[in-house]
Amino acid sequence: MPTSVALRGATPADADTVAKIWHRGWQDGHLGNVPDELVRIRTRESFWERAAQRVGDTTVALVDGEVAGFVMVVGDEVEQVYVSSDHRGSGVAGTLLAEAERLVSANGQAHAWLAVAPGNARARRFYERCGWVDEGAFENRVPGPDGPISVPCRRYVKPVARPLPQLGD
Ligand SMILES: CC(C)(COP(=O)(O)OP(=O)(O)OC[C@H]1O[C@@H](n2cnc3c(N)ncnc32)[C@H](O)[C@@H]1OP(=O)(O)O)[C@@H](O)C(=O)NCCC(=O)NCCS
Repeated sequence: MPTSVALRGATPADADTVAKIWHRGWQDGHLGNVPDELVRIRTRESFWERAAQRVGDTTVALVDGEVAGFVMVVGDEVEQVYVSSDHRGSGVAGTLLAEAERLVSANGQAHAWLAVAPGNARARRFYERCGWVDEGAFENRVPGPDGPISVPCRRYVKPVARPLPQLGD
């Protein structure tokens, strides 16, 4: 039976759970797939700091009242899509990504985009199944303590504009 998923904007009380899912999931998707320089600054503490700072950009998915995953959307970018390991393969991720697309559209954007590490095969397969298209390689400039860190990424895009109302609607 498909999992029943509820969505809502995150509150500061969610930040600890978001940080736990983000910290574990980042390792699953990124270790071995990004430069060591980036791994060095993604300390455990950095996830708790950023989860607290980014509450306003975060939407959480709830399964049985518990946070099972989250997305962060800024403008036209889907910045983070994370599901806890015990909810992967359940449809929670698809619900979150559809909500992220809706939020990008609500931001007045025609296209959504996201960056993914080339070696993050599970995420890439998931995005492609959801209708996202690989637009190619680019260097993501991630802020670091000694200046930006260059991280090879793939750029995925998807049109999200809502259709114009038809005459008679
Ligand atoms: C990315 C993520 C949100 C996707 O959610 P999910 O619930 O795992 O996604 P699904 O299981 O619905 O889909 C994953 C697809 O990849 C496939 N897959 C699983 N492991 C794989 C692997 N090692 N290599 C390639 N494909 C893989 C699955 O079979 C499935 O494809 P299918 O539907 O054609 O069978 C989730 O895996 C996650 O949180 N990962 C860690 C964090 C992360 O990397 N986030 C993305 C950052 S850009």
